[in-house]
Amino acid sequence: MSAKVSLADAPKTMTVPLLDLRAQYATIKGDMDAAVHAVLDSARFIGGPEITSLESEIATYCHAAHGVGCASGTDALLLALKALGVGKGDEVVTTAYSFFASASTIALAGGTPVFVDIEADTYNMDPAKLAKAITSKTKVIVPVHLFGQCADMPAIDAICGPRNIPVLEDAAQAIGSEWQGKRAGEMGAMACFSFFPSKNLGGIGDGGMVVSNDAALADKVRLLREHGARPKYHHHILGQNSRLDALQAAVLRVKLRHLEAWHGSRQKNAALYRELLAGTNVGLPLARAEARHIYNQFVVRTPKRDGLRQHLTDAGIGNEIYYPRPLHLQECFAELGYKEGDFPVSEAAAKETLALPIYPELTGEQIAYVSAKIHEFLGPRSG
Ligand SMILES: Cc1ncc(COP(=O)(O)O)c(C=O)c1O
Repeated sequence: MSAKVSLADAPKTMTVPLLDLRAQYATIKGDMDAAVHAVLDSARFIGGPEITSLESEIATYCHAAHGVGCASGTDALLLALKALGVGKGDEVVTTAYSFFASASTIALAGGTPVFVDIEADTYNMDPAKLAKAITSKTKVIVPVHLFGQCADMPAIDAICGPRNIPVLEDAAQAIGSEWQGKRAGEMGAMACFSFFPSKNLGGIGDGGMVVSNDAALADKVRLLREHGARPKYHHHILGQNSRLDALQAAVLRVKLRHLEAWHGSRQKNAALYRELLAGTNVGLPLARAEARHIYNQFVVRTPKRDGLRQHLTDAGIGNEIYYPRPLHLQECFAELGYKEGDFPVSEAAAKETLALPIYPELTGEQIAYVSAKIHEFLGPRSG
């Protein structure tokens, strides 16, 4: 991508998907196909060397000692919460503005989700509001590293540490992101990752992983993901079947070799958007100086979000709202008793945010086109 791209480079019309996984596949097709065929030839589909190798490679990448693969990011959260002992009567604090699984897994583990509001500029848990959400029943805190930027972990730790409450990082969107040089995965008691295809490191189906520097916790997750059995058919605890399959592991190992370069391309794309959108009336995502943002999403903001969304869609530009309804207002959590107005920062974000295409293979011309269409709709920056 040329550094010299300007709005004048925008074509009159083109198509820009939100994500183009075929473009990524084209760049690594030979290695991906070979990895898939090697698994087919081995006929080792569950467990085996691809899984153990990926577990240790991801753990190393995340500066953690242990990695435990599982069936999805959702299961990673559920298994980690169970390993931390969450059950009936326990409260677990997370943010009101995240993907559903950040909260559903708390309830699925038997606990009660307790929400806190987010920071208006990073969309991450607001540490200033955390202490008020903690009670004698609080068992775990789950900050979410939303859109690829870490939550302010030292500030969260300063509240949880003295109270001896473990922190579980929901790092589903944030593999490789950092806060003050510390990587997602090494800052909490445990961290959970998703390999959903749209993530920076995405598989060819569902997949997830729990990482931890605590051998006992990692071992508990290992036990829980395989029916709580050790050895086979001797069940110590009630576990589940949540394994990462060898096909996913083999593909993810190929992709992991490119992950740093892909992060770099996403960061360059974000920088170009910032440059080209500086003159228009759209809110740009804040990348904190302490953070290494890996831009799983590039989320802009405007009170005219719904109109902008329609304008971009009509212009052939893929976009998405992450997330249109905050978690405390979801019907399935009605019995928790939250109401509109409880978390105004999350509620405003749900009305105003829009994710733009940011994937690594995006061209400068495509970014110029998206930016020109935003200028066209929102006009010059005021104030
Ligand atoms: C913040 C967050 N947590 C958890 C998950 C769940 O991951 P998965 O879709 O792999 O189950 C996701 C996935 O989108 C996510 O974005």
